[in-house]
Amino acid sequence: MNGGVIAIDGPAGTGKSSVSKLLAHKVGAHYLDTGAMYRAATLAVQRAGVDPADADAVAATVDAADIALRPNGDGSSRVFLDGEDVSGPIRSDAVTAAVSAVSAVPAVRTKLVALQRRQAESELLVVEGRDIGTVVFPDAAIKIFLTASPEARAERRHRQNLAAGRPSDHVEVLAAVNRRDHLDSTRAVSPLRQANDAVLVDTSDMTLDQVLDRLVELVRARIGVAS
Ligand code: DC
Repeated sequence: MNGGVIAIDGPAGTGKSSVSKLLAHKVGAHYLDTGAMYRAATLAVQRAGVDPADADAVAATVDAADIALRPNGDGSSRVFLDGEDVSGPIRSDAVTAAVSAVSAVPAVRTKLVALQRRQAESELLVVEGRDIGTVVFPDAAIKIFLTASPEARAERRHRQNLAAGRPSDHVEVLAAVNRRDHLDSTRAVSPLRQANDAVLVDTSDMTLDQVLDRLVELVRARIGVAS
């Protein structure tokens, strides 16, 4: 049914977004960043002045929001909230801090999962997230679960912050990484976990190119679309 989906799950800081984009380009697929959708939902909640811990108000706010991902032409995509391009604002620290609470609300997940499934009806997709191989596309042609030690993930985040000119404290970044992992993997609905039939790739000691090569090899072996 979902023969056109390459599912890539795992926690933040494993290199998931970078490698998913490159993989999509390499195999001629579109790239779907589901985390960006949860971030747009979180921005809607914040703009409405709603407390992220108030599940009913969060559900109502996100239900009324128009969230869309549109291809950018280069394999990546832009995120729109009620028609406005919010691709920049969804990366703020405030959104990052609140996104776990918003994405734990069942009605939010129901809405966004339906959008994700609709997108896959017509195209070959590399779909990146937390629950793609377990819940959204359990029949995906190939499932990959990226992991890395908390220290390696925090180090990457820290370097990204510095490169982007954002102030960054290594200890704080590590604490935030651990906190979000805990929230994402212990929530009641669709927690972050590896699907039984996913291939585990530990990126702690791998460069981005090495991870990409490994994924291309896996995709080629499974569905033969990578050149
Ligand atoms: O990949 P990211 O850091 O942009 O994701 C932001 C948050 O969204 C993450 O903390 C958990 C949530 N998320 C989710 O619950 N399910 C997904 N499929 C993708 C992201």
